[in-house]
Amino acid sequence: MDVFRITGGYPLRGRIGVGAAKNAVLPILAAALLAGGPVDIQGFPALSDARHMVDILETLGCRCRVGDGQVHIDPEGAWGWEMPQELSKKLRSSIFMMGPMLGRFRKAVATYPGGCEIGLRPIDLHLRGLAALGVKVREAHGMIYCDGSGLRGGEVHLDFPSVGATENLMMAAVTAPGNTVIHNAAREPEIGDLQRFLNALGGRVSGAGTGRVLVRGVSSLGGASFRPMPDRIVAGTLLIAGAITGGQVAVEGARPADLGAVLDKLRQAGCGLEEEEDRVTLTAPARLRPVEVSTQPFPGFPTDMQAQIMAMCCVAQGASLIVENVFENRFAHAAQLRCMGADIWASGRMCLVRGGKLTGAKVAARDLRGGAALVLAGLAAEGVTEVEGAGLIDRGYEGLERMLGGLGARVERI
Ligand code: UD1
Repeated sequence: MDVFRITGGYPLRGRIGVGAAKNAVLPILAAALLAGGPVDIQGFPALSDARHMVDILETLGCRCRVGDGQVHIDPEGAWGWEMPQELSKKLRSSIFMMGPMLGRFRKAVATYPGGCEIGLRPIDLHLRGLAALGVKVREAHGMIYCDGSGLRGGEVHLDFPSVGATENLMMAAVTAPGNTVIHNAAREPEIGDLQRFLNALGGRVSGAGTGRVLVRGVSSLGGASFRPMPDRIVAGTLLIAGAITGGQVAVEGARPADLGAVLDKLRQAGCGLEEEEDRVTLTAPARLRPVEVSTQPFPGFPTDMQAQIMAMCCVAQGASLIVENVFENRFAHAAQLRCMGADIWASGRMCLVRGGKLTGAKVAARDLRGGAALVLAGLAAEGVTEVEGAGLIDRGYEGLERMLGGLGARVERI
C-alpha cells in the first residue's frame, strides 16, 4: 500500500493552481451518456474516481479516449443500462448513472454503491425523487430495478438538500417530457456546473444555486466541449496547508464565491487573505487562533473541509469546536490525529480540539478528506509522519505530494 512520508516544519511558500473539481467532473461524466453527440471534457483530472467513471461509461458501450488532460466520449453506440457491479462498489458516484440511464434507455439496473466509509449514505432521496418522476422502482436482493417507461416531469420535494440526489434528478429530468421542479435542491457550486453542461448539450435547466431547480424537458440533446470548474475543496486544502505551516500561499482557481465559509474561518483563525475573482492568497499569522465550525450544506461550511480544518485546530492557540451535521460518522481522522499528539475529545457529531503541538507518527487514512487532513497535520508536526493509504487520497487529489512539494513541503510517496 502506498504511503505518504512527510517531514514537518517547513513553511509553505509560493503559487499553485488547482485542477478540475472531482465533484463536478463525476456527474458531468455520467451526464455524457445522455448526449446526442461526442463530448469533450477539458482539464480532465488524473483522479482514480474520474477514471472509474470513464470505465463505467466504457462498460455501458460508450467509446472513450483519455489523454492530454482531456477525455473524449462518444456515447452514440452505448447500449448498457445495467451498472457493472464491481465498478459500482468502488465508487459511490456510480449512483449518478441511474438518472442518465433512465433518460436515455428508460430503464436502469443498479447495485447499492460503494465509496468512502463516512456514514450510512442511503440513496432513498434519489429513489423517491425518481418515483416522483414516474419511474417504477423495485428493490430486491441488493439490486435496484428501475422501469422508466413512464418517465415524465414532476414535482420533487427533497427532505434534505442532497447533492447527489439533486444532480441525479436533473439528469433524469432533462429529456423527460414536461417540466420538473426540484424543491429544497442542494445549492453547491458543482450543481451550477452540471446545469451549464446540460445546457451546453441543449438542455433547458435553470435555478441551480438556488433551492428550486427547474428542468424543462427536451426531446433530444447534442454533444459539447466543456471545461469543469476548479476544485474548491483542493483549493481549500492548499490554503490550510499554508495556514498550518505558518506560510504564505497563492492558490489559483480558488474562487472566493465558492469558498466563502472556509475563508471566513481562516480569517477568524487570524490568517491574512487577499481575494481576487479566481485566486486567494493566504498569509498565516504567527499563531493560529481557535475556531468554531459547524458543517452545513452550501453555502455553509463544507463537510469535505471538516477534517482539514480539524488538523489546523490541532495547532491553534486554544480550544476549537467542530460539529459535523452532514454525515453521521465522519470523525475517523480524530483518532489518527490523537496518535500525533492532538488533544481531541469527540462525542457523537461533536469534537472539542485543544490546540497544542503535533508530533510525527505512523497513521492511516480511513477516507479521502480525512487522509488529506493527516498529510496537513504531518506538515505541521515535529519530525516524520507516515500516512498509510495514499490511494484513498488519490481519489480526490491529483498528486498531492507534487502540489505540496511545489510549495516547499517535504512529502514523498513510498
Ligand atoms: C456529495 C459529494 C461529497 C460531499 C457531499 C456533501 C460528490 C461526488 N460527492 O456527496 O464529496 O461530502 O456531497 O456535501 O459530489 N442522504 C440521504 N439519502 C439520500 C442521499 C443522501 O439520507 O438519498 C444523506 C447522506 O447520508 C448524507 C447527506 O444526505 O448524510 C448528504 O449527502 P449528499 O448531499 O447526497 O452527498 P453525496 O451526493 O453523496
